[in-house]
Amino acid sequence: MDHDFLYDGAPDPVLVDLGRNLFFDPILSGNRNISCGTCHDPAFGSGDGLALGIGEGGAGAGPQRVTADPVTGRVPRNAQPLWNIGARSYLSLFHDGRVEALQDLGPADKIRNPAGADLPADVSSPLAAQAFFPVTSPIEMAGQYGENPIANAAHHEKRQEIWDHLADQVADIPEYLRILRASFPEITDKEHVTYGHIADALAAFQTTAFRSDESPFDRVLRTGELSTLTQAAQDGLTLFYGAARCASCHSGPLLTDHKFHAIAVPQIGPGKGHGGDMSYLAATGLAGRMEDEGRNRVTGNPDDLFAFRTPSLRNVALTGPWGHSGAFESLEDMVRHHLDPLASLTDFNASDVALPSLNHVQRLGARGSQLRFVPLEVDRRYAFEMRDTWVMTSPQLRQRIADRNALSPMELTDQEIANLVAFLHALTDPTAVNRSHMIPASVASGLPPQPDRNH
Ligand code: HEC
Ligand code: HEC
Repeated sequence: MDHDFLYDGAPDPVLVDLGRNLFFDPILSGNRNISCGTCHDPAFGSGDGLALGIGEGGAGAGPQRVTADPVTGRVPRNAQPLWNIGARSYLSLFHDGRVEALQDLGPADKIRNPAGADLPADVSSPLAAQAFFPVTSPIEMAGQYGENPIANAAHHEKRQEIWDHLADQVADIPEYLRILRASFPEITDKEHVTYGHIADALAAFQTTAFRSDESPFDRVLRTGELSTLTQAAQDGLTLFYGAARCASCHSGPLLTDHKFHAIAVPQIGPGKGHGGDMSYLAATGLAGRMEDEGRNRVTGNPDDLFAFRTPSLRNVALTGPWGHSGAFESLEDMVRHHLDPLASLTDFNASDVALPSLNHVQRLGARGSQLRFVPLEVDRRYAFEMRDTWVMTSPQLRQRIADRNALSPMELTDQEIANLVAFLHALTDPTAVNRSHMIPASVASGLPPQPDRNH
């Protein structure tokens, strides 16, 4: 089993410890107010417990997070859980697989990614490649233009500048330089530290920290003995692998085929800023394309419209809200959606979903030839808030999602659905319920580790 994981499941403990520090250290964010751990909180199923989270500019942990400083919007997709993310079978990362090894852990130039050739050629794995990206996102970690040098570089998409700047910042801290030198023989001087080293440490940490294989289901896999599950979970398992055909997509030990399917999950939130629909701009005068077209954004293939990567169902009971935009607040509703996606999409009421309110919203304005951020005018507030429900309240846009649905309806009784949910609960590893012990009390930068339990 160990060899199914990066670093054969056992990366150098010094590297792991470096990664642990960096994962919870806000030093990797432009305004030094957020870490990877804020959105991938080990107390909240390695997500943030929110449908759509608040990136930099927020304060507080998990579902209690609120905006504290000016932000330009919310994170457009549900923070993915990181359980078993170090498994080598993860060749594609993100809901749309936009970081993807096109050949089994082949040379790095085979990793398709949003930065193209800017991504260093020697990046060690798709997981390490992924770690190059959150730091370049203004909403997630970099901050807004004018706030700090990283945010300014992010605004101009100068990714290399961001990575160099972060590597310098980390290497300037004697404790980090000491551990970096202990982990990488090629580092003898701080000039040798690159973001690639940081990414490698983050990948090593994630590989060990989020490994999770102590669920009742694992006992079944190891012993072949079903009787350790409750009767309901056994019946659910039989359905899952049988008549309900769940395992046609949620297959293998991680319960995912790592492929992309359109199953008409409703979209809430502002989307990824792509797609051709301009109706929001036309109606409100505010810039933005609201549709999240999923995998199509990566491949341009019409067959991939509104398709998202099949999520692993490991610890799924801990990782709500569910779906790529966190549209479903109950696991049962998420399961029921699969049984009649089109009816579920039609009945879905986007304004029922609880999202943290966005205070202190700012927008990009122009002063002469200079760009700067200004507070969003009170009378545009309503138009701004419509972003969260825009796609679902437009019959045309909703129809586009419906048109791609690949799941045919299936009738199950309430009892059968309850059994499926019982099986999903048997995928919960008790050691995964709360791993907040892994959050360090302090990190090498001296900044307060994030998530900050004191907020
Ligand atoms: C502001 C919240 C936020 C922060 C901060 C953040 N992430 Fe994420 N993470 C997300 C979201 C949202 C996604 C899914 C994004 C998508 O599909 O477009 C994601 C996806 C991922 C994935 C892909 C998981 C999968 O199943 O494919 C990994 C790995 C990951 N993040 C690691 C990190 C690391 C490492 C950092 C710090 C360098 C980090 N994240 C910082 C919110 C965050
Ligand atoms: C056609 C492939 C396919 C089949 C069959 C399928 N699923 Fe899914 N499932 C997906 C995809 C794709 C998603 C993510 C969709 C999205 O977020 O847009 C998903 C999401 C989920 C989620 C939410 C996970 C999360 O982390 O948000 C659960 C739970 C789930 N499926 C359970 C089931 C069950 C139970 C069955 C059988 C009744 C089933 N699935 C059948 C493809 C499938």
